[in-house]
Amino acid sequence: MASSTLFHSSLLPSHRRTRKPMAVKSAAASPLQPSSPPDTRQHHHRLPEENIRDDARRQRNGAPTPTHKLFSAKYVPFMKSESAKGRTDEWYSLDEIVYRSRSGGLLDVEHDMDALSQFDGQYWRSLFDSRVGKTTWPYGSGVWSKKEWVLPEIDDDDIVSAFEGNSNLFWAERFGKRFLGMNDLWVKHCGISHTGSFKDLGMTVLVSQVNRLLKMNRPVVGVGCASTGDTSAALSAYCAAAGIPSIVFLPSNKISMAQLVQPIANGAFVLSIDTDFDGCMKLIREVTAELPIYLANSLNSLRLEGQKTAAIEILQQFDWEVPDWVIIPGGNLGNVYAFYKGFKMCHELGLVDRVPRLVCAQASNANPLYQYYKSGWTEFKPVKASTTFASAIQIGDPVSIDRAVVALQNSNGIVEEATEEELMDAMAQADSTGMFICPHTGVALTALNKLRGSGVISPTDRTVVVSTAHGLKFTQSKIDYHSSEIKDMECRFANPPMGVKADFGAVMDVLRTYLNKAPRK
Ligand SMILES: Cc1ncc(COP(=O)(O)O)c(C=O)c1O
Repeated sequence: MASSTLFHSSLLPSHRRTRKPMAVKSAAASPLQPSSPPDTRQHHHRLPEENIRDDARRQRNGAPTPTHKLFSAKYVPFMKSESAKGRTDEWYSLDEIVYRSRSGGLLDVEHDMDALSQFDGQYWRSLFDSRVGKTTWPYGSGVWSKKEWVLPEIDDDDIVSAFEGNSNLFWAERFGKRFLGMNDLWVKHCGISHTGSFKDLGMTVLVSQVNRLLKMNRPVVGVGCASTGDTSAALSAYCAAAGIPSIVFLPSNKISMAQLVQPIANGAFVLSIDTDFDGCMKLIREVTAELPIYLANSLNSLRLEGQKTAAIEILQQFDWEVPDWVIIPGGNLGNVYAFYKGFKMCHELGLVDRVPRLVCAQASNANPLYQYYKSGWTEFKPVKASTTFASAIQIGDPVSIDRAVVALQNSNGIVEEATEEELMDAMAQADSTGMFICPHTGVALTALNKLRGSGVISPTDRTVVVSTAHGLKFTQSKIDYHSSEIKDMECRFANPPMGVKADFGAVMDVLRTYLNKAPRK
């Protein structure tokens, strides 16, 4: 990408006791005893050698029934059709190091739904709600506040968490009104997070499980991934927090500077490889087949268990009302399935009455899912992905293609695409209404724009656009846009800084001109 000349100038703990979940289901029907109301004990200082893990341990030891003994999960082969589920006797413990089924297919994490459904929807809603906004270990995390649905059997002591999740669901009032005539448009800012992307949600789960495996003396020497930037950032941060070596394969010159510096700063072993993401993915798979390096890519179904909590969180933030649409930018296509899985679990366990319609949005330069969808799901062909400003989704041969199809088919879903100009314009428009989004969110907003244009999404439909990374990771693309320095792009909404002499008269002149034509509210 070109770098701009315009922008080279100077313009340029308090302690809380662990609380028990709220009582919600009659004791007769529930193996858990209803608990007392939240305690309001006074703040006290811990002993120097104590921390929030010790508080949690004490609380657990005093609990009538340890919940981790009630629930369980395992790996099973991923099935394309719901009816095929349960027809195989192949399964693996989550403590095994396995990424593929016997036939070479994807795996899925399957929860003991019978055990979970001993509790009704009201129980789960209240339990999850009671944990929001606390520092209680590990429930202060948006992921681990749903621990029973994520990794039910892991010991709280093994969890590696940065209290990720609980991200802002932003009411896009002005963007919705001004550009789309919508009154109920929301942006789920998953990128306002520990390492600046939704990848934290999955990585806390994966690294916690690796931490557990290491304590069990399993043969793991480190954790590795191929990445378009954000996965490596999350992996290296969580590994660094746990003291576990991380190894990342990055396509050289295809990720943003901010994304590159993240694993470097967090002490990962960074291999910058002269290929694209698909090439890095192939290499890491070969390497992890030879060396005891744990594979952290979303081929590994553990990560999706954490990512699905963003869907549960959206429902929770709407007081358990289901939005009409959820729009998700897709590359390797794990996330769209993770959202589906979160919504589906909430439906199956009675927290909500339906699943929202999902839209997966792709960059036209890397659109294998879009083409598959347009073929009526008849023919999937990987593509050679071209350069896109939405660099994290520059993927031509997505690992989770089958998962995405299941998510879309079972949610009456749609796939849309965005050209480079469309996604950059959408990003600039969103930013002009007070957001600071990444180009991938620009892809999702373009999809919304098109579906509003065609009338598929109506002005009053409650719609959530999933923002996947923080805009600050992608400042160079914004600088290029606002400098109008992008080849073959009009950059219609560019807002470059104005150079002016250090002189009162000159400053007054430009201000008067500006104020005369400045838009009025
Ligand atoms: C910022 C951002 N948006 C979207 C995606 C796409 O997610 P998925 O690969 O699960 O489709 C990624 C994945 O790398 C990402 O980093």
